[in-house]
Amino acid sequence: MRVTVHRKAHFNAAHRLYRKDWSFEKNDEIFGKCNNPNFHGHNYELIASVTGEIDPETGYVIDVKILKDIIKSEVEDAFDHKNLNIEVPEFQNLNPTVENIAVVIYNKVKAKLNPKFDLEITLYETPRNFVTYSGK
Ligand code: NI
Repeated sequence: MRVTVHRKAHFNAAHRLYRKDWSFEKNDEIFGKCNNPNFHGHNYELIASVTGEIDPETGYVIDVKILKDIIKSEVEDAFDHKNLNIEVPEFQNLNPTVENIAVVIYNKVKAKLNPKFDLEITLYETPRNFVTYSGK
């Protein structure tokens, strides 16, 4: 029986959407207010979903404590109260859109998980705007 275990988390972070290789005007045209040079913040809500077989001995797919600890070290400690553009190495040359943040989170969490699990990341940038990524 394959079951999906979901763990929620959140972090606050600042960002600016722009490309270094575009003019301010072009960035303004494409990214609008998100190109504000003084940055702006979001309350990101994360759902990490791990799918696998139920272990017949424990009854667990994954001990949620393991997932909680991975999210803490890879996401919360790395991103919470940070300026993504300036302080987070992954976004030095990668526009920190919610799409790209979800992919970065997926890659970081997947690298720490037992490879037998499937992972899906759901990331809310606002209560109405969210993306999902499952490595495909
Ligand atoms: Ni934004």
